[in-house]
Amino acid sequence: MRSDPLVGSLEASGQALLQMQGLTVHFPVRSGMSGRKQVVQAVDDVWLDVRAGETVGLVGESGSGKTTLGYSVLGHYRPTAGRVIFDGEDVTGLEGKRLQRLRRNMQMVFQDPYGSLNPRMRVEEIVAEPLVCHGVATDRGDVRRRVEELLAMCGMPAEAADRFPHAFSGGQRQRIGIARALALGPRFLVADEPTSALDVSVQAQVVNLLQDLQRDLALAYLFISHDLSVVRHISDRIAIMYLGQVVEVAASDSIFDNPRHPYTEALLSAIPVPDPRSGWHEQRIRLRGDLPSPINPPPGCRFNTRCPIAEDICSERVPVFEQKADGHWAACHLSTSAVTSNHTPVEFGPARGRNRSSESPPPDNPTT
Ligand SMILES: Nc1ncnc2c1ncn2[C@@H]1O[C@H](COP(=O)(O)OP(=O)(O)OP(=O)(O)O)[C@@H](O)[C@H]1O
Ligand code: SF4
Ligand SMILES: [Mg+2]
Repeated sequence: MRSDPLVGSLEASGQALLQMQGLTVHFPVRSGMSGRKQVVQAVDDVWLDVRAGETVGLVGESGSGKTTLGYSVLGHYRPTAGRVIFDGEDVTGLEGKRLQRLRRNMQMVFQDPYGSLNPRMRVEEIVAEPLVCHGVATDRGDVRRRVEELLAMCGMPAEAADRFPHAFSGGQRQRIGIARALALGPRFLVADEPTSALDVSVQAQVVNLLQDLQRDLALAYLFISHDLSVVRHISDRIAIMYLGQVVEVAASDSIFDNPRHPYTEALLSAIPVPDPRSGWHEQRIRLRGDLPSPINPPPGCRFNTRCPIAEDICSERVPVFEQKADGHWAACHLSTSAVTSNHTPVEFGPARGRNRSSESPPPDNPTT
């Protein structure tokens, strides 16, 4: 692993805490009455990095593969292809004790604060569960102290430890879920729609809490959400996902001010504008049809069946995921051409063209 020049350079720069390198997760399924074997291409050839202390927002419509990507990074799904590198170590497909060790560093905050907390356990047991499972604290007094400390970090009183989840509101339950995720002192959290089940008034409080914790604990987040406004608020960079693939990655402002992919433009145009006289409805880009099936994605660019500007080439050739501007990556044949100055153009292999040929020099990481 260390001989890989790409990984080596990133370790040396100390930039990427987490790297997804061509990460692919396919699910074999049997369909219909015939029981024919098929494959759901839930995540396909994703290259994405998250730096220490950074928030990367992950956006895409329902079924685009966001949760599957998050789960596979955390080792809940074994990738079909590609690698996950955490802190310079290849952690792809770990099992047993090595996976358990990884979990100390990587945790998940779930979407549903009602379903994710066991209603029959007191909050103390819920928050302490990772500590006990990992053998970090066994003495009752130590466990209690740590639980109270974690609750306080998440804005909850010590007495909350003695109560059951039903005694709390959605926002408070989400704070308890975050306290549990922090129990082992992770460096990276996947937050999967952590605010979407909450009242609007509470959403901002939870987002602010995540930001405060990030500042205090130097956490890195992969923040999954449908809500582009929330994502913009919290993210340093944003990755746009479509039908299992990341189609655009850039700094948050670049995504909003100068999107390079037609799908991103459509998502941005769908954000409601408060002033009804603004003409927002007329300007909105309405996509044709629904997300195609990940069992049989369209050939060429996967977005070609819905893209308002698609041309013949779009269904014939897979677009290269390339740097369109400094730090701004997108996969689109018709988007402005790639930058060449200071960057080695990245020639990718056949699937999405991302596998470097052995002759080509190591590229800058596509998504760092
Ligand atoms: N265990 C599984 N077996 C088969 N297919 C699956 C499995 N998990 C997810 N999928 C399929 O993979 C695709 C991506 O699902 P995923 O849940 O990752 O999407 P998502 O972007 O998180 O959607 P949402 O925004 O609705 O949460 C979907 O077509 C889904 O049906
Ligand atoms: S490659 Fe073609 S179909 Fe795909 S996003 Fe670009 S213009 Fe649209
Ligand atoms: Mg999901």
